[in-house]
Amino acid sequence: MKVTYYGHATFLVETMGKKLLFDPFFTGNPINEGINHEDIEADFILLTHAHGDHSADAISIAKRTGALLISNYEIHNWAKANGVEAHPMNHGGKWEFDFGTCKYVNAIHTSTFPDGTNGGQPGGFVIWNEEGCFYHAGDTALTLDMKLIPMTCPSLNFAILPIGDNFTMGYKDASIAADFIECNQIIGCHFDTFGFIEIDKKRAKEVFEDRNKNLILLDIGSALEFNKTN
Ligand code: NI
Ligand code: MN
Repeated sequence: MKVTYYGHATFLVETMGKKLLFDPFFTGNPINEGINHEDIEADFILLTHAHGDHSADAISIAKRTGALLISNYEIHNWAKANGVEAHPMNHGGKWEFDFGTCKYVNAIHTSTFPDGTNGGQPGGFVIWNEEGCFYHAGDTALTLDMKLIPMTCPSLNFAILPIGDNFTMGYKDASIAADFIECNQIIGCHFDTFGFIEIDKKRAKEVFEDRNKNLILLDIGSALEFNKTN
């Protein structure tokens, strides 16, 4: 599983020969202006929730690439109304795609599109196949529901957690989340994009180290490989 970070909550995960693009936010994002999103290919676009800093470029990239959009039922309706093919899910449900199993799990947050369209309830994704298992939490508070993930899914090889505070959990709560999901390799997201979520990165890493967890802060445009053995 190759994971490329494009800033904020935008990640491309390449697995089983498929490209999964999460929460594409390029237009209006001040920290990834150097990335030309016209070059990004996707087979699937996964939206955790409706906010503009997660959905901004979903429709345009889906139309350019022909990617299938995966999200909750209400966001699926929005995609279809915008001329994009979509797969509807809801919390606690999973589906077999050609990249593996995808489960839509709970998040505590809100989910309305910038134009006021109802985006249903926000969520996160757990995805697994023979190459491994990972969790993209989306925007969420720390919640005890995270303890259900190791009880109901294969063990995680890595997880993407928000650490920026104010709109989501901060890095201290995220380090507790790492315990709840029983995962030692955490990629931080949703930090430093704008003023409300600027963090002390050195301190954040120390807080994770104190729990024997590794907080990975990727440079924008950089990638990491994960597989079942690490
Ligand atoms: Ni949000
Ligand atoms: Mn957000």
